[in-house]
Amino acid sequence: MTDDKATLERAQDALRAVNYPGFPRDIVTLGMVAGLELLEGVIRVTLRLPGGRSEAPGELERAMAEALAPLGVGLELRIAAPAAAPPPAQAEPPAELLPEVGAILAVSSAKGGVGKSTVATNLACAFAGAGLRTGLLDADVHGPSLPILMGTEERPQGAGGNRFHPVDRYGVKCISMGFFLDESSPVIWRGPMVAGLLQQFLRDCEWGALDVLVIDLPPGTGDAQLTLAQQVRLAGAILVTTPQEVAVRDVVRGLRMFSQVQVPMLGVVENMSSFTCPGCGAEEPLFGHGGGERVASAAGLPVLARIPVEPAVRIHGDEGEPIVRAAPDSASGRAFVQLAVELARRVGLSATPSAPGSA
Ligand SMILES: Nc1ncnc2c1ncn2[C@@H]1O[C@H](COP(=O)(O)OP(=O)(O)OP(=O)(O)O)[C@@H](O)[C@H]1O
Ligand SMILES: [Mg+2]
Repeated sequence: MTDDKATLERAQDALRAVNYPGFPRDIVTLGMVAGLELLEGVIRVTLRLPGGRSEAPGELERAMAEALAPLGVGLELRIAAPAAAPPPAQAEPPAELLPEVGAILAVSSAKGGVGKSTVATNLACAFAGAGLRTGLLDADVHGPSLPILMGTEERPQGAGGNRFHPVDRYGVKCISMGFFLDESSPVIWRGPMVAGLLQQFLRDCEWGALDVLVIDLPPGTGDAQLTLAQQVRLAGAILVTTPQEVAVRDVVRGLRMFSQVQVPMLGVVENMSSFTCPGCGAEEPLFGHGGGERVASAAGLPVLARIPVEPAVRIHGDEGEPIVRAAPDSASGRAFVQLAVELARRVGLSATPSAPGSA
């Protein structure tokens, strides 16, 4: 009996070496191991897979078997029923979060600094400018950029208990860790985990009825992405890349992660795709070219938009008014509106975004 217990403990330790495909975290830490039993010469591992999957990726099963082999036991893999999602401690009903939100769009990239936050804020302003009820959630709890890019440091108002209202800016309902970063709302710090904070943004924020919620993800393929995929039904994710080869490789990695958790991928945004010389009007492919296409063809996805490099994008961002509002007739302003139109079409939003500025 004690031997069995020791073997199970060793098995659990061994499984800590097995990452979920596409994620930098192991299946034990991610809470996917729902049960371990020792049978004759075999360990039966019950996994709870994200997104209600009923089959484990083949490479995961192989990696688990390899991890257990040194213990002299085989692997019998079982998948827990999808309904077994762990309820929060206060036993709230397991109802889906954000039932009043029409479409939730995640703006993502495995790579940092490619313009995710710039795309997310401009997209949200373009949607709002078209009269869509729009929210913007900054899921980068460690490096929030929404307050600067949207030009507001307003504090979210309390809404009773742990709940709070989003901040309204340019007709967009915004929430960001940056709004809570000083003394005002200690409640938000209860859970120091990314997953906990993000869950609070989804669950405790009074979003109300929205047509679309844009989520600005932190770089990488980590906890925020997984939490989102588990907690809400995403209409889809868009991947931002620059034309460089290195960005392409990272984006393909991000793509793989989303497909593992069964989030639909809507397409690729190639940001910083060309630079038009203000003097002579010539187009320069500053960061190389063809990255969007390479990502798209590697993944079978459309290129949804190409956003040129324009100093004004950064300047208006730093000044707190996204270019799609501040200079809607600029090349980037127009490209962002087109991106919004394209996405609205793909996820079935009713209003058609057009150049904003008055929202
Ligand atoms: N098309 C563009 N033209 C000029 N500057 C741009 C463009 N897109 C983004 N930038 C600038 O590049 C920098 C990085 O952009 P941003 O913060 O949106 O990237 P990110 O992917 O969200 O970064 P992080 O990974 O840190 O979250 C910012 O200074 C931004 O103003
Ligand atoms: Mg960002």
